[in-house]
Amino acid sequence: LKVKFGSEIKEFQSIWYDETGIIKAIDQRKLPFLFEIFEAKTIEDICLAIKEMVVRGAPLIGVTAAYGLVLHSNSFQGTTILEFLNYFDKGVDKLSRTRPTAVDLFNTISIMRKTIDRNLTIEENQNRLKEKADAIARDIVFECKKIGEFGNELITPKIKNIMTICNAGALATVDIGTALAPIRQANSENKKIVVYVNETRPRLQGARLTAWELYNENIEHYIHADNAAGYLIKNNMIDLVIVGADRIVLNGDTANKIGTYTLSVLCKEHNIPFYVAAPLSTFDLTSKTGNEINIEERAGSEVREAISIENENDINPKRRIIHHIFSPNINPAFDVTPAENITGIITPKGILRYPYQKTIKKLLNTQ
Ligand code: MRU
Repeated sequence: LKVKFGSEIKEFQSIWYDETGIIKAIDQRKLPFLFEIFEAKTIEDICLAIKEMVVRGAPLIGVTAAYGLVLHSNSFQGTTILEFLNYFDKGVDKLSRTRPTAVDLFNTISIMRKTIDRNLTIEENQNRLKEKADAIARDIVFECKKIGEFGNELITPKIKNIMTICNAGALATVDIGTALAPIRQANSENKKIVVYVNETRPRLQGARLTAWELYNENIEHYIHADNAAGYLIKNNMIDLVIVGADRIVLNGDTANKIGTYTLSVLCKEHNIPFYVAAPLSTFDLTSKTGNEINIEERAGSEVREAISIENENDINPKRRIIHHIFSPNINPAFDVTPAENITGIITPKGILRYPYQKTIKKLLNTQ
């Protein structure tokens, strides 16, 4: 992830393990107005970071949880392996209650849990857990690179205007991104593309985060109000839509940021290809259809407030109220796009095509 600081460009990952035993992550709450690094020393810090969306995006939530379990197991004070396992599971419980929809959280927790070997010492297990968390983070970067290569094949000379929603970029993963990976790849090959960024109310991940990533990469883009999507798609201004995913179940139904379903319906109506991009950690092996997905409801304050600055020189972003408290609101954070609305799913192992039942099973079995 490139970040411009004036004329200087620095490279970052969205999260990293600092060798002093602290987890560091780019704080996504005040971007793009303020670039700050969040430091987590305990599992409580990690849980707060996930809940409050210091870090967000399904794959990154998974990686953050893995590192949270490293911090947690390193703070173990007891002596026996059984006590260690009990202690570990307390951390698992805390993490499992942070956000319900992104399955990457639960998938990585389960991988970390299985990494513990009762026949090894506590110290050996602590080392194994750290190595596993590093491997999970590395794999995500590798998978995003592959998604970029496969997805880039869709960006033929006829495809110029690409729409996305939310942020499925480097900030939502560890680096590169999922929906943004084909866009980065195409751009690196000098393909002429323009990205249409749904602002993504209420948390504005599109306007704040995706646009910031594209700006840092010098990729042409326009932010638009979410409710402009229908106009843009109907008037032939969009050639391709690529979105990320929080959970893809066995039949291909996909949970992603609220508003994704609407885009899929628009694409179906107007015959525009609609693709989902995701790493293997975003597949849910245990749910058959989208009806089984737990959709997160977030605080009403997110709809009632928006983060903003007074002017371009203001370095003190604030949350400001945009509607009165006397009107209640509702704030579902995700929706489910039915498999039949999805033209294809871009995975690190290739592009799957509808119907998905068989190909998703095969993809996960050959892991
Ligand atoms: O609420 P968020 O910001 O965590 O939601 C993120 C999304 O919906 C992304 O599209 C999804 O997690 C994929 S990120 C590669």
